[in-house]
Parts: sequence; structure tokens; C-alpha cells
Amino acid sequence: MASEELQPLQGMADLAMPEIARWQRIESQARAVLNCYGFTEARTPILERYDLFVRSLGDETDVVQKEMYHFEDRGGRQLALRPEGTAGVIRYIASRGQDAQDARVYYIGSMFRSERPQAGRRRQFHQLGVEAIGAAQAAVDAEVIALHLHLLRAWGLSQCRLNINTRGLASDRVAAQEQLRALLLPRREDLCADCQRRLDGNVLRVLDCKNPKCAAIVAELPPLTSFMSVEARAYLDEVCHILKSLDLPFVLRPNLVRGLDYYQHTVWEITHPALGAQDAIAGGGRYSLNIGGRAIEGVGFAIGLERAIVALDAEQPEAPPERLPLVWLVAQGDQAFDDSLRLLQSLRWRGIPSQMCLDRRSMKAQFRAADRAKASLVVIRGDAEMEKGIFLLKDLSNGAQSELEMPELLERLLQVKA
Ligand code: HAM
Repeated sequence: MASEELQPLQGMADLAMPEIARWQRIESQARAVLNCYGFTEARTPILERYDLFVRSLGDETDVVQKEMYHFEDRGGRQLALRPEGTAGVIRYIASRGQDAQDARVYYIGSMFRSERPQAGRRRQFHQLGVEAIGAAQAAVDAEVIALHLHLLRAWGLSQCRLNINTRGLASDRVAAQEQLRALLLPRREDLCADCQRRLDGNVLRVLDCKNPKCAAIVAELPPLTSFMSVEARAYLDEVCHILKSLDLPFVLRPNLVRGLDYYQHTVWEITHPALGAQDAIAGGGRYSLNIGGRAIEGVGFAIGLERAIVALDAEQPEAPPERLPLVWLVAQGDQAFDDSLRLLQSLRWRGIPSQMCLDRRSMKAQFRAADRAKASLVVIRGDAEMEKGIFLLKDLSNGAQSELEMPELLERLLQVKA
């Protein structure tokens, strides 16, 4: 097979040992924190109706216009690979009727956006997201932001920066868009092609365009909050007040709008200095979604796990372990082989990670296998040990050997238990 055929598709990656150990660790640390805040896991399908995303994320968004993996199945249905987790999770929550009230759900899984791959931008990536359902309450927004920061802290990230803003109420949006459009129309020719298009659709997105010419024009505009209602500004003030009283540092970013259209009121993004141009490790906000004839309000966020791992690698580089908590059984001869098979089974039933070569290869080859697997201990049963009725235990990390009888051996091996 040509080597190209062995590679995953562009913008996608195979994930296995040793990197996956870090993924597993952060996932289990996250589950423990999420449990403290009353969130339980939901696993919703990766494939959903295309319409669900268009209606939830907004048909003017880059994600819907340029980035969705959208196709027609054999039955003529329009489907899409999920580009984010909120829409599917809210669809599921809405399907639960009355149980939807106050639902608190988290999810971990693959998302798909057909973007041009570059550092920090993949076509298949993973998010850990949470959604807390319930009508707007500043204290809940602050609680969810506190959870967000807690998770990043629990992973050992200390250099994250929280940026926050408001998108106002749905009614503010129309007025804000009109005022912004009126201010930007005279500068139309100076904006990038994307922003010229945004002037006719979602003009708010001009505010966070990365193009330097657009950013310079935006810098001269009044802050987005100045177009908002008193109610929206008071809501943001209350969220900020609670964050301050909880000692959670943040920066108000008047031009932060986020790329999805379901947001109302609080929005935030968390950046990390290790990430370069794509420096958002996570984003979230309060939203209102109309799904299946029901309006569902909530607040949530999603952390991009690939980006979180890049940040962790920068803050806490990890050398792969020299040895693993693994016992390798080495046997010489038929009798020792049978005995070792029984021992192998009993160690595994006791929860001790253990392996042996099952193809009756030479002792030397068995030691090589133990070394390749990074086992930390080897239990040897050769002719001499069989005769004496003992086991030879070798510690591969320091070469120390000891002769042990079964009860002592078990006691020693139980310390290897993961
Ligand atoms: P988002 O900002 O589109 O929000 O994505 C959240 C995070 O996913 C980003 O901050 C980034 O770390 C990661 N991410 C996004 N696109 C890519 C990509 N192409 N490659 C690698 N990482 C990526 C949402 O998805 C919302 N659903 C968050 C939310 C939940 N809001 C309320 N509830």
C-alpha cells in the first residue's frame, strides 16, 4: 500500500499510546469536577439532520456557510456531521419534555469542520462541552464560567485568560446590527471581502474579524455594549460582579461576539498563550434555541481538547514513562508455561496488569517482549525455579532480583495494581 494510503485524511489524526494517556487522564479529571457541579454525561449521535445546525447555529455563520460536512443519504435526507455539540444535545434535551428543565449535561466527542487545516485547526477535533438548561440568571452564567475555569485549573493549566462580553437580548441584536451597519457602510470598500458580505448579513461578525484593516476600522467604533439595552448591560454587570466576588479574573472584551448565532447575553472565550494564531482554547455563552417548536434557554461552553493538550504540553511537558505498571511472566518449558498461564489469570482477576508471550518462544525473546512493552517487573519460572517451587522476581527498573514463594510474590505484585 502506498504510504499516503496509510495516513488519515488531511486535518484528521490517529490517536493512540503514548499521547492518548494524557487524553484519558484529562477526561477522567474532568468527569470528577463535572460531577461536583451536578453535570451528567450525554452521548448524542455524530450525524444529525442538516437543518438542525442551520437553524441553531444560524445560516449566516461561517460554520454553516463554509465548514459543514453536509451530504444527502440514500433516502434523500440532508444530513451533516456535527460541527459542534450544543445543537444535538439541546435537541436531545428538548425531546425529554418536562425533564428538560434544569438539565445539566456534559459531552466529550468528535466534531467535524471542513476548514483549511493549520496549527490548532483540524477537520476532526474533539470537544468537551457542558450545557446547563434554564432561563437567564446571571448567577448561573457565573457558576458555569467558574466550572470552566475549574476544569482548566484541574488539568494544571495556569496561563488561561478569560475574555467576556454580552451579545445582549434578541431584541438588542436587531438594533445593534442596524446601528453598526450604518456606521460601517461608508467604510465598505475598506473592509475585507468576507466583511463586505457580512455587512448584508451578520454584521456583528465584522467586530471580531482578524484582518488588520477590518480590526483598525472596528477599533474606531463604539463598543458593542453601547448599542445594548439597559437590561442587557445590567445582566453583564451582575455576571462580572459575581466573578469578581469569586476571585475569578477576567477581561471585558467589547468586541467579542463569538461565531455562532444562538448566543444572547453573556459570551466568553478562553485563550492560552501557547496556542498562536488560533489561541481560543474554549468558548461559551448563554443561548436560546428553538428546536421542535420549543424554545430552550441555557448556558454552556466547549473546550477544544486538541488545543487544551497543546497548552498542557507547553505548561507541563511530560516525558513518556520509562516503565509501566505491568508484570510480565516469563516461562521455560511446558510445566512452567501451564503454571504461568494460571498465575496470569489469577493476577488479572486481582486487578494486576500482567502479560506473557503465548507462543512458547525462547526465554531471551520473552525478555525482549517484556522490555518492549515497558514492563516494570518480570516473574521468571525456569527449570531451577520449578524445582525449588519458587518464583524469581526481577525489577526491570533497577535490575534487582529476589526469590519468592507464592504468598510473598502476590503481596509484592499487588503493589503494581494500577
Ligand atoms: P466554538 O467556539 O465554535 O464553540 O468551539 C469551541 C472550541 O472548540 C474552540 O474554542 C476551539 O478550542 C475548538 N475548535 C473549534 N473549531 C476547531 C477546529 N477546527 N480544530 C480544533 N479545535 C477547534 C462551540 O462549539 C459551542 N458549541 C460552545 C458552546 C457550548 N456554547 C454554548 N455551549
